[in-house]
Amino acid sequence: MNVFRPARHPLGAALIACGVLSATAATAGEVEVLHWWTSGGEAKAAAELKATMQKQGHTWKDFAVAGGGGDAAMTVLKSRVVSGNSPAAAQIKGPSIQEWAREGVLANMDNVAKAEKWDSLLPKAVADGLKYQAHYVAAPVNVHRVNWLWANPEAFKKAGAKVPTNWNEFFAAAEALKKAGIIPVAHGGQNWQDFTTFESVALGVGGADFYKKALVQLDAGSLKSPTMQKVLETFKKVKDYTDKNAPGRDWNLATAMVIKGEAGMQLMGDWAKGEFVAAGKAPGKDFVCVAAPGTAKSFTYNVDSFALFKLKDAANQKAQQDLAKAIMSPEFQEVFNLNKGSIPVRLGMNLDKFDECAKTSAADFVSSNKAGSLVPSIAHGMAVPSAVEGAMKDVVSQYWNDDKMTAGAAMDRLVAAAKNK
Ligand code: BGC
Repeated sequence: MNVFRPARHPLGAALIACGVLSATAATAGEVEVLHWWTSGGEAKAAAELKATMQKQGHTWKDFAVAGGGGDAAMTVLKSRVVSGNSPAAAQIKGPSIQEWAREGVLANMDNVAKAEKWDSLLPKAVADGLKYQAHYVAAPVNVHRVNWLWANPEAFKKAGAKVPTNWNEFFAAAEALKKAGIIPVAHGGQNWQDFTTFESVALGVGGADFYKKALVQLDAGSLKSPTMQKVLETFKKVKDYTDKNAPGRDWNLATAMVIKGEAGMQLMGDWAKGEFVAAGKAPGKDFVCVAAPGTAKSFTYNVDSFALFKLKDAANQKAQQDLAKAIMSPEFQEVFNLNKGSIPVRLGMNLDKFDECAKTSAADFVSSNKAGSLVPSIAHGMAVPSAVEGAMKDVVSQYWNDDKMTAGAAMDRLVAAAKNK
């Protein structure tokens, strides 16, 4: 029994019969949508989805659970679904879509996908991830690039530093920023943020093939190797350039430090651009986006999508299908991604309204795919089963926080964490 079934008023039927209520109103339902888009840029993007649904006469029930990276949202979602009280849609991505589908709680969206031609509008790898046993159970909104470095050009000018393109340059710039009294790296010590930095270091130091072998295929010989040792040591060195208030800090507060020039740079996915833009800042002028050091030819992807849950009420099912349809429409893909900092996932979109960061992202998405250096983000739930992801995040954050833990010990623990498959 769906407790969100809206009360049907007998008057409604009478008014429809008299032609007083429109057809839209007659089929209007409620969509309850779970997400964790609560920062400035994220909230603006989420508001576009709400407006799209309201324009169609549906009621939007916001189910926002704050917490970057979505860990808190997933915990709340589990308890809701277990108690038989699923929302219409929830921000779920990567292998977790399959995990939820296996529970038998997701709805089949093939009707919408067929009518809207999703198979021909999505990269095949993305489409496959949205299907369970060949049926669509989720709708995608965007492609985020995770391996970015965001920099404040004023801060760099003050420090006489150059925006880095490799790790040697990164540490040289960090030293210069420090000498100029600027916090070199804005960081938030939460495990998904630690891992976001870690995976960019792994990609930059080890390269795309190493990244895939170690962190996607979970090959023990790569997880414990001289390359991984170097990755871990480089990663730990980044910590020397963060400030003492980093532990626990939210990612958007770290971005705000770069916006204000209190900090020089941040390693973060392009939802950070949503923050710069929401603060009225212009790319190339007030802030700079460059690929994380050593990763210009690679692309760590993170596709946000909404899994659709089985619902009982017919009007709500219709609203849910309208949501899935709207999400993939060109109008929504444009306006949402302009606010979110990401690029449309729908192929063939005109990017005229997008800035240079987005255009670079779109070009690199295509070229890295051809070159075999398009890799899924572990930190953002795109690569490995959630149990492995959680275990690996714990190891990486322990290593980041515990100055007594050696790289050797961290590698042994990574090998053990990978066995949670
Ligand atoms: C999501 C983004 C979100 C970010 C920070 C990522 O995992 O994919 O949509 O903006 O976390 O909350």
